[in-house]
Amino acid sequence: MSSQNSLDVAESVAGLGLELCELREAISAEYKAVANEPGKGFHFHTGRPLARMLGYDDEWLKGIPESSIESFAGTGNPFRLGEIEPGERVVDVGCGAGIDSLIAAKKVGPHSRVIGVDMTSAMLDKAQVAATAAGLSNVAFRLGYAEELPVDDGWADVVISNGVLNLTPDKTVTLREMARVLKPSGRLQIGDILVQKAVPEDAKRKIGLWTG
Ligand SMILES: C[S@@+](CC[C@H](N)C(=O)[O-])C[C@H]1O[C@@H](n2cnc3c(N)ncnc32)[C@H](O)[C@@H]1O
Repeated sequence: MSSQNSLDVAESVAGLGLELCELREAISAEYKAVANEPGKGFHFHTGRPLARMLGYDDEWLKGIPESSIESFAGTGNPFRLGEIEPGERVVDVGCGAGIDSLIAAKKVGPHSRVIGVDMTSAMLDKAQVAATAAGLSNVAFRLGYAEELPVDDGWADVVISNGVLNLTPDKTVTLREMARVLKPSGRLQIGDILVQKAVPEDAKRKIGLWTG
């Protein structure tokens, strides 16, 4: 992580009275369960019913393995914010089991590239298996943090992200990283949670509330 990003994340987490490692471990444990036990039942929607609810076209999901769809846990629909065009390069921040990365890989076509990044290896393993099963070789999955994307400066035409920004303790750092990997003319297409009232400080200190 750039030293400025590290300092800012450390300061944000300390300000909440939390430990960064502990927070990340708790969030990862929750999403490891979404990867490995998708039918377990969570306090958020998942899977194909969620994709339907969020307006994912059946056409987009054609050829995407069920193993990826069943662990879908997004909060919005980045593809409704703008068309992903053939030839564009896409980064999917917090890609989970890969559903959006695989949809993007179909949209950009075989001569372009998609990089999915996630901090939970159980999710990435599922995403990679699904990409291989779908025969999509233009997508790569990388272990990493949204605050420290393993992607070169100015690489992407589009950064997509779905349900992840709300899980990061310092939104400014995460958005700065997204901006760093975008070309100057690039765009962000983010599906996430917006609140209209400030989240109370004591709620921010409860790790159990972060993991949802
Ligand atoms: C709500 S799920 C959404 C996954 C995927 N985007 C989807 O729509 O199915 C959140 C994902 O973000 C990942 N995540 C959370 N915080 C992260 C961070 N700071 N850096 C990288 N990944 C993170 C989790 O591991 C999880 O896979």
